[in-house]
Amino acid sequence: MSGTPAAGGVALERAFAALRVLEPGCHACYVYDLDALEARGRRFRAAFAALDPLTAFALKANGLPAVLERLRGAGVGAEAGSLGELELAAACGCAAEMRVLNGNGRTPEEAGWAARQGVHSVNADHVAELDLLERAAAAHARPLRVALRVNPGIETPGHRYVATGGEEAKFGVSPEEALAAWAARARWPHLALDGIHLHVGSQLTEPAPLERALEVALGMADESARRGAPLGLVNLGGGFGIDYGGGVEFPLESWARRLAERVAGRGLAWVLEPGRWLAGPAGVLVAEVLWVKRRDGRRFVVLAAGMNDLLRPALYHARHAIEPLSPRAGASAPATVVGPVCESADVFAEDAMLPPLEPGDLVAIRDVGAYGAAMASNYNGRGRLAELVASRGRLVRARAGETPADLAARGRNDVLIG
Ligand code: LLP
Repeated sequence: MSGTPAAGGVALERAFAALRVLEPGCHACYVYDLDALEARGRRFRAAFAALDPLTAFALKANGLPAVLERLRGAGVGAEAGSLGELELAAACGCAAEMRVLNGNGRTPEEAGWAARQGVHSVNADHVAELDLLERAAAAHARPLRVALRVNPGIETPGHRYVATGGEEAKFGVSPEEALAAWAARARWPHLALDGIHLHVGSQLTEPAPLERALEVALGMADESARRGAPLGLVNLGGGFGIDYGGGVEFPLESWARRLAERVAGRGLAWVLEPGRWLAGPAGVLVAEVLWVKRRDGRRFVVLAAGMNDLLRPALYHARHAIEPLSPRAGASAPATVVGPVCESADVFAEDAMLPPLEPGDLVAIRDVGAYGAAMASNYNGRGRLAELVASRGRLVRARAGETPADLAARGRNDVLIG
């Protein structure tokens, strides 16, 4: 990248300095470029326009209201995996027909919410869940459209924690169970049980797994029609991978063209649930260098952000590009970039080539707009970081950082028994 690192027309150094006025004790923060986010939302929608799908942003990737609100302006809806995400979608003005409810641990509260407030569709993870959805829909006299999540037995490359379509994954029903349920759909009179949902994995950089998922979906739709229960809805999930620095990203436009050609004339309704592809590249984690320590010829750069702020490297061995905001003169050399958390896994990079760094310098950790702040915790008594959004030169604090006092205030002494 050339020039001063910036987001939404605001230099990251200035963004951090401005936050420090409001939060003097802060040493790191997330910054999202809402202009880049919106551009990705529009590009995604344009790529799949021939299919006219509901594009439902996976809120688990980034639950900041300002992010969903901006995507909504680009015609993107929301995929919610919990009651909290349903409420978030509604609070951000996402209309009922733009909301999809997902998840493999359906609760009566979620089912009731969906039936009461309305959703485009619910993805059911197993057949017994249909009874729960049926009761909720009957109680609110509102039909619910339901897609059954099918486990297609498709293995995907990448870390096994983000593979969801393999046979050992906990998600979905077997193809045979799904066919039987569609054929028996009269048992659930308040449900429109005419959909199939497949989400085979995340951070896919090539379309082969999605192609296989599509063929499974189309084959099952044909078979279900033969058995007298035609399908009307196909939800292909998310999974579109981004370039974390290796130079490869999912070929979105060519896959979209292939998909549209393959399914032309079938008269199906479509849902896609991208998370990472939309939000990942739009986010950066700015962190202060606290210490630089040398030991046995190794250089350890200790950042003020840790695995509680960005878990991906520790959990999946994910690599995110790291760069100083104002590089010092001098040759680049290997550095082990770590956080301050008391865990040996609190490492962002083992062998990053970085110029000289001094305490007080700021670095940017790239492509953290998806599964970054969303997976943060208070581990080690650390408050979650502030989240800033920038657009056309304007910077807004969209979520305040948590202070030690905020954490202390969560303690309770509510006697429940005795
Ligand atoms: N739909 C369903 C049903 C999902 O489970 C997910 C993600 C998505 C859509 C969005 O997938 P995406 O387009 O973002 O790949 N924390 C991991 C990723 C976990 C993905 C979980 N499911 C990571 O940081 O890599």
